[in-house]
This record gives sequence, structure tokens and C-alpha cells, in this order.
Amino acid sequence: MSERLKNVIAAQLNIKEMSDYYPERRIAKGQAVRPYIVLGGKELLQFGSLDYLGLASDERVIEAEAKAARKYGCGALPSRMVIEMDINKELERKIAGFMGEEDSVVFTSGSAANHGTIPAVIASPLSYLCPGENTRASRAVFIDELSHSSAKDAAYLTRGANVKVINYRSGDMQDLEHKLNLHKTDLNLIVTDGIFSTSGGIAPLEDICVIAEVFGAVVYVDDAHATGILGKKGRGTCELAGVGNRVDVKMGVISKALGSMGGFIVGEKWFIEYIRHSRPQIHSMPLSPGECGAAIKALEIAQSEPWRRQQVLALADKLRFGLKQIGFDTLSSSTQVVPILIGDELLARQFADDLEEKGIFCPPFEYPAVPKGEAVLRFCPTALHDLEDIDHLLGVIKGLFSKYLQHSPQNLLSKMA
Ligand SMILES: Cc1ncc(COP(=O)(O)O)c(C=O)c1O
Repeated sequence: MSERLKNVIAAQLNIKEMSDYYPERRIAKGQAVRPYIVLGGKELLQFGSLDYLGLASDERVIEAEAKAARKYGCGALPSRMVIEMDINKELERKIAGFMGEEDSVVFTSGSAANHGTIPAVIASPLSYLCPGENTRASRAVFIDELSHSSAKDAAYLTRGANVKVINYRSGDMQDLEHKLNLHKTDLNLIVTDGIFSTSGGIAPLEDICVIAEVFGAVVYVDDAHATGILGKKGRGTCELAGVGNRVDVKMGVISKALGSMGGFIVGEKWFIEYIRHSRPQIHSMPLSPGECGAAIKALEIAQSEPWRRQQVLALADKLRFGLKQIGFDTLSSSTQVVPILIGDELLARQFADDLEEKGIFCPPFEYPAVPKGEAVLRFCPTALHDLEDIDHLLGVIKGLFSKYLQHSPQNLLSKMA
């Protein structure tokens, strides 16, 4: 690589060496029986995985992936505009059935689903720079400030088509209403995560739907963390809030609770057909047959074994209760995503290192995943954990809390509720 490339990157980051900016990534070796992970030759109890239902390592899912790969090969089909594979279509039918919708379209990741769908809804499926047929209409995306960065990036992609992008304070309906009034446009899209990935809180979907109805806005929910977990049938936050038919666009993922890879959009047939013409669908390869096979099996298991999601939520309740009793701020968490606010980034890293020393893996979340100075540790129980694991985790954290309280009380306690 040339010195020029180095100079360009260094100028952007304002640093001398890459390692000053990005700490070295660690390599996990996969032999451990879940929920353990092998890091640095040590087996650690894993609380950093998003394999919520424990399906990524399920023998039935693994066998389904292998079987599909043996039948169809490992990948590299032409784009879906050229040819469709029956296994991809079967997965889409199964997802639609699981979500109780007419149809679904699968992308290779949750991020790709956001990148394809948000611009297609508010700008055009054809080009991020093209404002669609009705070039005179003014447009805006109102997005919860805690939404996932892929949804934010997707919204920003539409700015080339003169779409305004406006952040509103997380979960703050007064702010949303105020901003909708302030930036009056012809076409409005409200975008929010269902479960916020760093706080574990749930968006006020009922209120968002009411406001959307008043302002004639379209509602888009990124339900990556709630897919397979929340709601009576595991359909997510829209089902839980009873707003399934008032939310216009529902996005979910396979890549967390459903043990494989991919993201999806569900809805009426005409809309799904429209989204099939979005850029990541046309200009990118589809999900590989193995991933489709694994996802189909994982969906079957998620539906026939509801104890998995019940267990995850029960363990999360116990963990959250215990953490609050110790004295931590668990932010707005009411789901299986259970953060503790640490604040200072270095302290969060040190806390994670100390946990690791005691045999527990939970990586810290720092800027840009959260605002500067608001680092968290995010614990995610899964169906592979049991009550003893939670008790053990709480015991270890309790020991560490007293240690940190002696040395840095202001940091640990500064933002406590
Ligand atoms: C809320 C949310 N949306 C979208 C995504 C992206 O999903 P994927 O990892 O499949 O691209 C994530 C991933 O962490 C997420 O947390």
C-alpha cells in the first residue's frame, strides 16, 4: 500500500499510528460449549452474544445449514434479478408466516435491510440521489437519536435526494411532535428501533402511531433485537404494543435470535414487491443456501419452543433486579438487553477486564455506539444460560462494584437514577 493512503487515513483520524485509535481485536476460538467462549486460551462465561435463543449452536440448525449447502452449494448465485432459488423463497414464506404477514423480503443483513428500505420508502428504490417521481414534494425522516447506526446511515443516504433528516430525543414524544410541527413537509417518515440496542428500552410505539396518524407520517420500526423474543408469538415490539397493523414498515433480523444471518422486511405483497427493487436487492448477492437452511430451521424451533424466549426474559428480569439492588443504573432496560452505565470509557474497559479475570466475558460499549462519557457494559442473557449463571454473574459484579466504589465513586454513581 502506498504512503499516500496512509497519509489520507492518518489525516482523517488525526493520529500517527492506527493502533493509537483502534485497540487490537482479540480472536475467539470456537471450541467451547455455549454459553462459553474461548479467549486467550481461557473459557469464559459469555454475556456478550446476541444469540438470544441459543440457536446458533443448535445441532438441528447446524445440520440444516450443512444439508442446504450440500444440496445447493455454498453461495455465489447470480443476483436475484436474474434468478431466484427456491430455498430463498421458502425462507421468505416462512418469515411471513412467522410474522403473520402477507409476504417478506430477506436481505443479507439487518443493515442492508435498512439501507435498502428507508431510502426506497422516502426517496426512491432506484438511486439514493433520485427523489422519485414526485420531485416537487418536500420530504423528511424523523429518527430517534438512539436508533441503530445502519438506520441513521440509511436516512442520511437520502439527503442527496433533498430529504431532510431530523433526530428527535430518544423516546421523547413532545420533541417528536415539536419537530414535526417545525419542519412541515409533504411526506414524513418516522424511524425508530423497537428495542434500543444499548439501553434495552422499548420505543413508545403506541404514542408514535398516534402522532404519525395526526401528522400523516409513515412509521418504520427496526425490530432487530425483538425479533423472536417479544410479543405473544415472538413477533416483536409491534406485537407486544398491539400496533402490528398501525406500523407501516416492520424490519426484523435473522442475525440475532434466529441464529444465522440476514435481515428482513414484512408487509403486504405489493410493498414487498416494491422493496425487491431496492438497491441491495438488485445489486447484491442473496443470502447463501446454507444460511437460508439454518434460518428456516431456527424459525421452526423458535415457534415450537417458546420456553426459549420465556427463559431469556425471565433471566434478564432477575439480572436487572439484582444489578439495581447492587446500585447500578440499568438505563431504561425492560428487555433481554441489560446494560449498566459506567460512564468513563477507560473505567468501562477496566471493569470488563476485571470481569474477564473472573471468567466472565462482556465487552464494553463506547463511543460511537453510545455518546462520549456514557460507556456501558451490556449483558445479554440467552436461552443457554440458567439461574446459576445469573447468580454467579451478580456475585462477581457485586465484588467488583465495592472495589470500584472505593476508587471511582463519582464515575460509577454520577448518572445513577
Ligand atoms: C437495532 C439494530 N438494527 C440493525 C442492526 C444490523 O443488523 P446486522 O448485524 O444483521 O446487519 C443491528 C445490529 O446490531 C441492530 O442492533
